[in-house]
Parts: sequence; structure tokens; C-alpha cells
Amino acid sequence: MQIHPFVRSAVLLAALAALGSPAFASKEKPVVGISLDTLKQERWQHDRDTIEARVKALGGTVIATSANGDDTRQVSDIDALISNHVDVIIVVPHNGEALTRAVEAAKEAGIPIIAYDRLILNCDIDLYVTFDNVKIGALMAQYVVDRVPKDHPGRIVCVYGAQTDNNAKLLKQGQDSVLLPLVKAGKINIVHADWAADWNSENGKKIVNAAIAKSPQPIDGVVASADSVAGGVCQALLEEHLAGKVIVTGQDADRAACQRVMRGSQTMTIYKPLKQLADYAAQAAFDLAQGKKISAPNSIDNGFKKVPAVFQDVTVVDKDNMFSTVVKDGFQKAEDLK
Ligand code: BGC
Repeated sequence: MQIHPFVRSAVLLAALAALGSPAFASKEKPVVGISLDTLKQERWQHDRDTIEARVKALGGTVIATSANGDDTRQVSDIDALISNHVDVIIVVPHNGEALTRAVEAAKEAGIPIIAYDRLILNCDIDLYVTFDNVKIGALMAQYVVDRVPKDHPGRIVCVYGAQTDNNAKLLKQGQDSVLLPLVKAGKINIVHADWAADWNSENGKKIVNAAIAKSPQPIDGVVASADSVAGGVCQALLEEHLAGKVIVTGQDADRAACQRVMRGSQTMTIYKPLKQLADYAAQAAFDLAQGKKISAPNSIDNGFKKVPAVFQDVTVVDKDNMFSTVVKDGFQKAEDLK
């Protein structure tokens, strides 16, 4: 059944109101707010569920909201969490530049903010937990250039992510660090490159359709910045009878992407151990709610301050090591990948 967004918001607000007395929260059993950009892409369901499980195991409660890719809605989600006196908010921003006011309001209410896997720019956040997106971008690009034919300059398409997401820019930075020197050396050509709005699969498909229409010779590789867009990339290639003949990257080790890797239409993905990130964020949320000082191994400038930052490691995954990584960790089940 389709639920109208206003009805969904009303249900959410009613649920929040029911939970909302300040007396409900306590330093020992904090209420952790989670404000997600979207639940449309598989990975964020995984993140939400894992954070929630960890917070509950620690003795706390979670109120999770999802803005369905809408900045205005994400601002009102955060406002609702503030009005309901959560102790800390974990935020996955849809747009890293659109939440400054909402974060300021949270800080005025004494509520710490953790930026979860996407940086929030130009405001006072307490912690940023993430993966090294520049490195991920470089790993994807390197995977492609290592495998494209060497008898001609490799013809490469870049499908970047959402321009509103700081991660998409960091990924491009990593990709460029590998690709641009090779372009300069005449070893590869970037035949087409574009941003896939909202990391949408359909937009990934359109970009590859445009690349195929534009390039007189067959393309050799697509540096797709995530599994969501890689889905559309593989669909476009399938329709042109090119599936399995073009190197295609991704990241997230989504179930559908791992299936494509095993079947051969997508060549690789990057496994990001979300459990480590989610567990870290949950523990940090507790520490912040209890007024403890957070120490993190790194820091990153978000335009307002140097934010303490944690980068978790990632693994390049293809057919050869799918079972010894993603499956072994229990991230995907072997029977789902047949
Ligand atoms: C994340 C990716 C994810 C993408 C789309 C990015 O910010 O780093 O893991 O696939 O958003 O949701």
C-alpha cells in the first residue's frame, strides 16, 4: 500500500510525541535519534538496523527517520527529533550543505551530532564516522585501468554519484588521481562522464546510454561510483548486448550487486564493513550522550572546524574473493548469490 508522505510524517510525529517526554531519556539509557537521507538504497537499511541493534544491546532506544531524499523533510525530521529531546542524533545527510540550520538548532538544544558516512559541511558537528572515499574512488579506477585492453587507449565512462553528496566528490577526486595522469599519457580516454542525481539507478542507465550513443567505438570500462548506479549501468549494457564485456565497478556489496558480480555483468564492488561503522557510531552516540569526550584517530575540516573523524577500512571484491570476504563475514548469504 502506498502511504502518502504527509500521513507518514503524521504517523512519525505521533510516534515521536508518544516517546517525547524528557523523562524518558536518561544518561544511562539514552535515546538516539537517527536521521537518514533515504531507505531506498539497500545499504542504509543495513546501517539503520545495525545501529539500532547495537544501541539496544547497550541499553538505549532509537528513533529513526528517513527523509526520502528531500532536504526540507530532513530538516523537519531533525527538528522533530530535537523537540522530542533525543540525547544525540546520528545524521546521514541527503545534502551535506543543507543541514546547517538544523544542526545549529540541535546544538542550541545541547544535542550532539554524529555525521554518519557523509560529512555535513559548515557547521558544528561532534564526530564524522566514515570510510576513506578518496581511497575507494582510487581503488575503483585502478581496478578498471588494470583490466581494460592495452592494444588501444582504454575507453572509459565515469558515472559519478549525487552532486549533493560530499562523498561523490571525494570518490571523483580518488578516481581522477588514477585516471587523469593516464589520460595525459594517452593511455586511456574518458569518453563520457556525468553525475547520477540522487545515486539513482535510472540516472546511471541514462549516462551509459548517452556514452554509448556518443562513442563510435565500444566502451571498455565504466567507473560507476556505487552499486545503486551500477545497477542502471549494467541494465544499459545488457540492452546493448554488452553485459559481461565491459568492466563495471561499484561499492557497497549490495545483494543485487553481489549477484551481478557472481553472474558476470558487474565486475567488482567494494565491501564496506557497515557493522564496524554502525557499532562505532552507536558507542560514540552513547559516549556523547553521557557527556564523555570523544577521541578519534583522524580529523577533517568541514569548513567550520576540524571534526574528529574515523575511517574504517574497505575491501575490493570480485568473483574471486566474494566468498572469503562478504559471505564469510555474514554480510551476504551464499544461497542468495546463486
Ligand atoms: C555512500 C555509498 C552509497 C551512496 C548512495 C554514498 O554517500 O558512500 O555507500 O552507495 O551514498 O546511497
